[in-house]
Amino acid sequence: MARLWLMLLAALLTAAGSDAAGIGFEFHHRFSDRVRQWAEDRAIPGAWWPQKGTAEYYAALAHHDRALRGRSLADASASELTFADGNATFLLSSLGFLHYAVVELGTPNVTFLVALDTGSDLFWVPCDCQQCASTHLQGIELSVYSPSNSSTSQKVPCSNSLCDNQNACTGTNGSCPYNVQYLSANTSSSGFLVEDVLYLTTEDATPRIVEAPIVFGCGDRQSGAFLDGAAPNGLFGLGMEKVAVPSILSSKGFTSNSFSMCFGEDGVGRINFGDKGSSDQQETAFFIDSRHPSYKINMTGIAVGNSSTDMVFDAIVDSGTSFTSLADPMYTYIAENFNAQIKEKRYKSESNSTFEYCYELSPGQTSVLLPVINLKTLGGSVFPVNDPIISVLGPANQTLYCLALLKFSGVNLIGQNFLSGLRVVFDRERLVLGWKKFDCYTVDNTAALSTPTSSPSNAVAPVPSSYTQEMTKTDPNAAQVPARSPPSNYSPHSKAMSNLSPVVLLMLSLALLW
Ligand SMILES: *[C@@H]1O[C@H](CO)[C@@H](O)[C@H](O)[C@H]1NC(C)=O
Ligand SMILES: *[C@@H]1O[C@H](CO)[C@@H](O)[C@H](O)[C@H]1NC(C)=O
Ligand SMILES: *[C@@H]1O[C@H](CO)[C@@H](O)[C@H](O)[C@H]1NC(C)=O
Ligand SMILES: *[C@@H]1O[C@H](CO)[C@@H](O)[C@H](O)[C@H]1NC(C)=O
Ligand SMILES: *[C@@H]1O[C@H](CO)[C@@H](O)[C@H](O)[C@H]1NC(C)=O
Ligand SMILES: *[C@@H]1O[C@H](CO)[C@@H](O)[C@H](O)[C@H]1NC(C)=O
Ligand SMILES: *[C@@H]1O[C@H](CO)[C@@H](O)[C@H](O)[C@H]1NC(C)=O
Ligand SMILES: *[C@@H]1O[C@H](CO)[C@@H](O)[C@H](O)[C@H]1NC(C)=O
Ligand SMILES: *[C@@H]1O[C@H](CO)[C@@H](O)[C@H](O)[C@H]1NC(C)=O
Repeated sequence: MARLWLMLLAALLTAAGSDAAGIGFEFHHRFSDRVRQWAEDRAIPGAWWPQKGTAEYYAALAHHDRALRGRSLADASASELTFADGNATFLLSSLGFLHYAVVELGTPNVTFLVALDTGSDLFWVPCDCQQCASTHLQGIELSVYSPSNSSTSQKVPCSNSLCDNQNACTGTNGSCPYNVQYLSANTSSSGFLVEDVLYLTTEDATPRIVEAPIVFGCGDRQSGAFLDGAAPNGLFGLGMEKVAVPSILSSKGFTSNSFSMCFGEDGVGRINFGDKGSSDQQETAFFIDSRHPSYKINMTGIAVGNSSTDMVFDAIVDSGTSFTSLADPMYTYIAENFNAQIKEKRYKSESNSTFEYCYELSPGQTSVLLPVINLKTLGGSVFPVNDPIISVLGPANQTLYCLALLKFSGVNLIGQNFLSGLRVVFDRERLVLGWKKFDCYTVDNTAALSTPTSSPSNAVAPVPSSYTQEMTKTDPNAAQVPARSPPSNYSPHSKAMSNLSPVVLLMLSLALLW
């Protein structure tokens, strides 16, 4: 039995303008192109992506191509796979602040926009729906899976070793039922397991489609957060249990038993199955509880700018958690030391606000200096928190930024926001978590010389956000500000505005129970 965690902000489905029905997509575009475009447009912060046809677009393409070739030359034995639709992931603020990827399943293939969750195991998609989220998503019609419509779909009988719920096998058809309960707020997915083809592609110079038969949930009944904005088109469990897709891919010999994700600070990320990381990455061992195997790591200390302390705690690395949540004393240590080193005026938020520590920017301000936050992991490696803040629009339309950290008395969760700017490797073979600073775009140069740490500004990825671009129009020098050398305990930061306005940020903590 696994009890794993997913935290998300539901109720964020913003009525973003162009919901008007009938906005036609040109029909020569494949469905997945439309979904990807939709996702790219909504990746936060800044919804930044070069427009097709512009010089920037082609420059970016060329850059990617170079990176692709560089990578395959550097690593001839690459057997890494990613989704056939590409390795890109998208942080979607309107869908619970989780990272999503576009996946194709079945024959003929059907495309889904699924949330990536290292905190749970089962991959499920809406299927032969009795109770599913709306399939209308701001102009996109989301798919529903149907076993009877796919010629490669197969039953997973109760006798299958992936069927954990055999006592519930009462149906005469012998399909293995599943029921995943995510803790609190009545959030669940249920249905039965099916086997079908997941389309992947090799990541070398001559990409080749790989059809991997995988087991996933035909989710005919969802409840709670899944009907309310989060993962409306399926949840891609990336956990340690044998039913999780990375486990299936390695047990069937498609990839090594490892995968990586990179969540870029521009909201666009990457996922690679089989990626075992590099020799120069930082690492710490997973702390495995055999009853509930999860990506739990042990910490030994915290540093916030000019102060640091020893503190022993464990935390689960959970990409299905929107914002990192820590119990006390960790929460208070980080929050108070952060607060003590911030120059901006504290914004006294309403008691119903999600984040306790928020600050008001002065008009025209486009960047802030933040104390550098590092977590020290067992074994001595330092886990840098590259993006601890979120910018929000205050009630009077003022620009605020908040420490995007929640106090939570349950298990400590390192959420997607603390993973950004890193290539995070979930090496399940060696049972270690690896990480390395990475902008998610350039080729990983394993042989890179270690650069002196005197210039923390190189930690910041380019910030081509719509907000800074907009501000740059009125103040052409504004974008230069972060380039100046800040004091070494600080990192310069500028962030895009996301229109969170006065929205109820509904926090749900969820557990998986077979
Ligand atoms: C992602 O895919 C692109 C090609 O679509 C490739 O150029 C790039 O190197 C890949 N990135 C990573 C981190 O694998
Ligand atoms: C999915 O189907 C479309 C349309 O038939 C096809 O163009 C595409 O290549 C298929 N995708 C894969 C990964 O086979
Ligand atoms: C299955 O195929 C039928 C016939 O083409 C179609 O009417 C139905 O909508 C499909 N079901 C799903 C869930 O896509
Ligand atoms: C198998 O039976 C269960 C309940 O008896 C039903 O919910 C499910 O849809 C059936 N599965 C298939 C593949 O027919
Ligand atoms: C969960 O469901 C129960 C019964 O269906 C209901 O009484 C309760 O209010 C629900 N809780 C939440 C948080 O929605
Ligand atoms: C990690 O922490 C857990 C409990 O927090 C503890 O039981 C375990 O021994 C720790 N692991 C190591 C290697 O210290
Ligand atoms: C840390 O920095 C803050 C703000 O810059 C300052 O008030 C405080 O005295 C410093 N603390 C130490 C221990 O240097
Ligand atoms: C905030 O801005 C929106 C749109 O720009 C406007 O409709 C609203 O009245 C403003 N609210 C306040 C309190 O100024
Ligand atoms: C939060 O509280 C304030 C006043 O206390 C209220 O005006 C506002 O609507 C509340 N926001 C939400 C999202 O409930």
